[in-house]
Amino acid sequence: MTRVALAFSGGLDTTVCVPLLEEEYGYDDVIGVTVDVGQPAEEFAEAKETADALGLEHHVVDAKAEFAELCLESVRANASYQGYPLGTALARPVIATAILEVAEAEGCTGLAHGCTGKGNDQLRFEAIWRDSDMEVIAPVRELGLTREWENEYAETKGLPVEGGGGGKWSIDTNLWSRSVEGSELEDPSYVPGEEIYEWTRAPTGETEEVEITFEDGYPVAVDGEPMEPVALIEHLNERAGAYGVGRTDSMEDRMLGLKVRENYEHPAATTLLSAHEALESLVLTQEEREFKELIDARWAKKGYEGLVDAPLVSALEGFIAETQNRVTGTVTVRFEGGQARAVGRDSEYAAYSASHASFDTETVGKISQEDATGVAKYHGFQRRLANESIARLAADDGIELTPDGGPATGGADADGDD
Ligand code: ARG
Repeated sequence: MTRVALAFSGGLDTTVCVPLLEEEYGYDDVIGVTVDVGQPAEEFAEAKETADALGLEHHVVDAKAEFAELCLESVRANASYQGYPLGTALARPVIATAILEVAEAEGCTGLAHGCTGKGNDQLRFEAIWRDSDMEVIAPVRELGLTREWENEYAETKGLPVEGGGGGKWSIDTNLWSRSVEGSELEDPSYVPGEEIYEWTRAPTGETEEVEITFEDGYPVAVDGEPMEPVALIEHLNERAGAYGVGRTDSMEDRMLGLKVRENYEHPAATTLLSAHEALESLVLTQEEREFKELIDARWAKKGYEGLVDAPLVSALEGFIAETQNRVTGTVTVRFEGGQARAVGRDSEYAAYSASHASFDTETVGKISQEDATGVAKYHGFQRRLANESIARLAADDGIELTPDGGPATGGADADGDD
């Protein structure tokens, strides 16, 4: 008997995949696997109900703790791709790995997903699955299915899809973010109303402050109360979401090259990323901060690609770990006008000296104000000499220069060599 494990959500796409895997791909048996990365309870209820109605053997795997750890790892890398803190992207390898494990334990020889051929998720799932010897099947992509065809097929087959495949938006929710796409949102000029949001309330003008404690770059406590990753993220989603924190509307450049309009909600991620950056700004040196931006951007790109197990990521994390042992301390964040703004930060590892920076002190240790005079004399020195040369060349050409150094009439000498 041949078995295939299907990434199953109970939505239209994955529901039609169940009979198609038997009819079109010749499998004797399909098992559905739903991986819990913090979706709302209704989604599990929907998956279970649909599985029961289909007579589908249904496995649910709890990967919340593991996913939350990856989310907090991404905070150490200040990870965001075009303003999107990567909720869907980071969840995919966790989900794919959990499904592969179930498939192996259940004697499957195939793995299937219901992703289309347009998005990123097909690539993220398959990168993990193709590490194995299993057959990888993407019915929606391979059979060129459309929503319309799926609805008709479901009707002829009497498949349990309520309301013709759910609401009009395509939504993906997990602990780290909720994303909304499709329908009117496909028009970039369409201004969505409040109805697309579920985690965030429109800012009211009210404010609240919250204190986040970090250890080695990981958030570990809120208002002094230690919290495990899952609870900490859930707590901040609620708390910051009430102030409209963490809404993003982006024209996202997808891996295949398509641009897609995507709306996100991610209150906890926004709060933690803002707090973490504020603490780094206190403890890291200027050059570490500047260089880490490059490292962080690369980490985010690999996260977006669903390739957090690439050797490059371990190497980047080596650098990140080296910097994070000082990212220990507390940040006060204010929720205000839809923003999570760091308004105070404190660490015993600050690369900051109040007495040196203060306007109120003259000499501290061996350094006094007048020591800067020599630096000031050299600052801009090369540019001074270069500008003198430019002025001399212009004078030789008989070009009159304006006070800021540009030609008065605009490029008199086109070939520029005499
Ligand atoms: N564009 C995002 C990504 O590729 C999220 C896609 C989520 N899917 C959805 N149906 N809203 O990571």
